[in-house]
Amino acid sequence: MEHKVRKDKVVASFSRAVESYDQAAVVQQRNARHLAGILRTHCPDTRALVPFLEIGAGTGFLTEDLVQLGLSRGMVTDVSPAMVRVLGKNYAEFPGLTVCELDGERFALGERFNAVLSSSTFQWFSSLTDPFLNIRSHLTPGGLFTFCMFVDGTFRELRNAVSAVGCPFPGQRLFEANEVVRAMLDSGFSVEHFSVLDMPVRYPDALHFFRAVKSIGATNAHRDPLPPRDLKRVINRYDTEHRRADGVTATYTTLFLLGRKRGTQ
Ligand SMILES: C[S@@+](CC[C@H](N)C(=O)[O-])C[C@H]1O[C@@H](n2cnc3c(N)ncnc32)[C@H](O)[C@@H]1O
Repeated sequence: MEHKVRKDKVVASFSRAVESYDQAAVVQQRNARHLAGILRTHCPDTRALVPFLEIGAGTGFLTEDLVQLGLSRGMVTDVSPAMVRVLGKNYAEFPGLTVCELDGERFALGERFNAVLSSSTFQWFSSLTDPFLNIRSHLTPGGLFTFCMFVDGTFRELRNAVSAVGCPFPGQRLFEANEVVRAMLDSGFSVEHFSVLDMPVRYPDALHFFRAVKSIGATNAHRDPLPPRDLKRVINRYDTEHRRADGVTATYTTLFLLGRKRGTQ
């Protein structure tokens, strides 16, 4: 289960979107809040979770929730230098937090953490097992690993619209929820929480939906974008098939997982 993801494109589009991200990333903000709720339920004593490592922190939606939960010592990271600059400004007054650039798919840090957390980021990884094995090696025995990510099922309305007009799907291929669980188990973690949440979001029309995705920086890092003529056909189809009085729907499907490192190595 290897997906082709052009990391340079991912970094470039998130860096471009840094100004518009906070306003547009409604689902990502809800995901972060939901993940923090799961964490609180499973680990009421958050002191056991520091030091922590956050991967793909973006502008800090999850970081904010972690700080509220009392996680005040750890490393907050993102692969995009522009996002890291924003994080650096937002968390300058937190002496226990180190903000730095880090590629969550492959990194080597000379320390171990009691928790690794990530919100709405792993869908940008090309593969999961190797990164998860690496994350495991950076955790203390019994260390907590929790994350959420967009999975297959996301943007199903767009998939219908592109199939109907005979175009290739313009988005990236997303992992299936069961592939992700398998990768987590195979990499030496237990799974204590598993849930999948469908979040339908309304946009005034298909064009607004496409613009919102661009404002978040979540544009395709695999294929070239659709040519304008095809894009227009897809937009027309999307509007015809999925429009109601209050606009069109785009469904986001998010997987939430929480587990612990098994073994000691
Ligand atoms: C959709 S945003 C989510 C940001 C934040 N966690 C939130 O909930 O708002 C995805 C973030 O993942 C980062 N990202 C993408 N690939 C990454 C990688 N390989 N390593 C670390 N961060 C990555 C992007 O730069 C972006 O900031």
